[in-house]
Amino acid sequence: MSETLQWQKDSFTVSTDKSLLQIVRIHHFLSTQSYWCQGIPKNVVEKAVQGSLCFGLYDGDHPEHLQIGYARVITDSATFAWVCDVYIEPSYRGRGLSKWMMECLTSHPDLQSLRKIMLGTKDAHRLYEKFGFKATTTPERWMEIRRDDIYQKMKTP
Ligand SMILES: CC(C)(COP(=O)(O)OP(=O)(O)OC[C@H]1O[C@@H](n2cnc3c(N)ncnc32)[C@H](O)[C@@H]1OP(=O)(O)O)[C@@H](O)C(=O)NCCC(=O)NCCS
Repeated sequence: MSETLQWQKDSFTVSTDKSLLQIVRIHHFLSTQSYWCQGIPKNVVEKAVQGSLCFGLYDGDHPEHLQIGYARVITDSATFAWVCDVYIEPSYRGRGLSKWMMECLTSHPDLQSLRKIMLGTKDAHRLYEKFGFKATTTPERWMEIRRDDIYQKMKTP
């Protein structure tokens, strides 16, 4: 893995430093506001951070350097990556911040020589198309195990 990287734009910072991540905020967004992992437990979010290349987006004008965006890349840094958990806090949307975060992410040195980079999205295709992603032309080659209700089941005693 490469060293920690940081990018600056106006008062905003994107950083891959995991020690800066505001896990409580990430967990709050993912567990209550995302459409893909509602109810995800905090310890699962923490474990996912440990095993991933993470991009935190911070507002330097906020007294607490609030984390206002996040993206996570699951990768071996050699052959393959999966981009996920991409979000911008609602009050910061529509200002180009997700595009900038994706710019930082896709320029990361560990992701330059991979054979495949994948992601899933319900409605943000046009965002990712700006960075070279295309709908797969060979869905018949791809298989998956889906456990969409796994976090709901975890809550059941
Ligand atoms: C999707 C999301 C990250 C966009 O963040 P943002 O900072 O508001 O987006 P930006 O201002 O950088 O602009 C995004 C660009 O992608 C386009 N876009 C495509 N699909 C979009 C979508 N579903 N939502 C927002 N923008 C979208 C926008 O039109 C814009 O392009 P333009 O500048 O050419 O008009 C944000 O709306 C969000 O967090 N949504 C909830 C979580 C989510 O859906 N994450 C993506 C999971 S795959």
